[in-house]
Amino acid sequence: MLTETHTGLQSPKGNWWKPAHKSERVWVGIAFGWCMVLFAMMPLWQVKGGQNPSGIRRKVDPAAFYARTQEFIAQYRIGDDRGMPIVAPPPGSDIYLTAMSFQWTPILQLEQGKEYILHLSSLDVNHGFSLYPINVNFQVVPGYDYGLRVTPTAAGDFRIICNEFCGIGHHTMVGRVIVVDSTGNLPAQSGGI
Ligand code: CUA
Repeated sequence: MLTETHTGLQSPKGNWWKPAHKSERVWVGIAFGWCMVLFAMMPLWQVKGGQNPSGIRRKVDPAAFYARTQEFIAQYRIGDDRGMPIVAPPPGSDIYLTAMSFQWTPILQLEQGKEYILHLSSLDVNHGFSLYPINVNFQVVPGYDYGLRVTPTAAGDFRIICNEFCGIGHHTMVGRVIVVDSTGNLPAQSGGI
């Protein structure tokens, strides 16, 4: 006697004409309802979500942005750290930070509790702005100028780590932000590495 074999040419016996079990209908209903919730959240989050950047975004020519950064450095430079200029702009001003393979230019020295408009852009490829040890992250994209309203809430010597893989020197791409308190000094225990 021949036993029945199943190949791709021979369909298995179906049962699709039988009504679905109640629990299956309930789960399909729950899944569909949840899909609708997520679908509604997409446009809703665009308007109400706390993840939206706090500033403006506009297109910019990378070379022009870098030239603007150099102008900013020349205007407010107060010193150097191993060849990298340290820039102390007045509170309330527009400040510039250029990301490039593999550095953050310049070192910013800011005052605690004062607001600045931080312009971030990249000269070459995507980089990731990640303020260490505080959890602040932002994507830095060439061709776009992000003007973020920022107010440093803590004084300290912070590092900017690149958190977007950008090439062979990615792991060496470390920048620096110094935040001084109202007396113009760094706290004794600063946040640097
Ligand atoms: Cu810049 Cu990784």
